[in-house]
Amino acid sequence: MNIVIADESHFKYAQQICDTIAESAMVRGTGIAKRTPEYIHKKLQNGNAVIALDGDKFAGFCYIEVWGHEKYVANSGLIVHPDYRNQGLAKKIKQKIFELSTSKFPNAKIFGITTGLAVMKINYELGYRPVTFSELTDDPEFWKGCQTCKNFDVLTRTEQKMCLCTGMLYDPNSKEKTANVKKLNGKTFQRLKSIKESIFLKKKAK
Ligand SMILES: CC(C)(COP(=O)(O)OP(=O)(O)OC[C@H]1O[C@@H](n2cnc3c(N)ncnc32)[C@H](O)[C@@H]1OP(=O)(O)O)[C@@H](O)C(=O)NCCC(=O)NCCS
Repeated sequence: MNIVIADESHFKYAQQICDTIAESAMVRGTGIAKRTPEYIHKKLQNGNAVIALDGDKFAGFCYIEVWGHEKYVANSGLIVHPDYRNQGLAKKIKQKIFELSTSKFPNAKIFGITTGLAVMKINYELGYRPVTFSELTDDPEFWKGCQTCKNFDVLTRTEQKMCLCTGMLYDPNSKEKTANVKKLNGKTFQRLKSIKESIFLKKKAK
């Protein structure tokens, strides 16, 4: 498996990347920000993406988004092709995109929002910590990405204070050392998720 910083030579994978992201969201029953092959091309051109290839077969992908005039960056669009899941590939891709983010944007806070336990675990081990949405970027362009999510009405109802996703942030100035980081207790996050679902989605059904 080759995990590399992607460039124009990977344009031919853009459609497959978009299709795999869309199909996986359908299977999970979640909404996501829509990505087009043209958008992926820009990420490849700017050297802001990581691709995993098994020979010439597409295996995984992730890219960097820059917000709030480089004060914040997000590592978004993480996808591992179903044939390559549960082998630690997402962890390796996230490690690589994290290194790329910290080298290109050393002063930026790195963040993500997710409902996925796998992503929470990986982020936690990289040194991200759960935070309230008020600690994430207030760049409206970032939050516009949530409009295509099926839970967008929850975010609107709470005036962007919370949603089913958990916000996680890596602060380069934090004194906490990742070397001492314990593994995330997944049960805590599962519980948090089910509490949020029972509050927000029950109200929605009324
Ligand atoms: C989520 C996804 C990226 C994980 O990829 P992967 O290569 O299978 O993940 P890894 O093998 O690196 O696993 C990393 C950790 O997450 C755990 N994990 C993997 N899939 C999981 C799942 N569905 N639920 C809970 N934990 C999971 C693994 O056990 C591992 O934990 P460990 O370190 O305690 O052993 C992949 O399933 C995927 O592409 N899903 C669809 C898209 C998606 O959900 N993207 C994230 C959007 S925020």
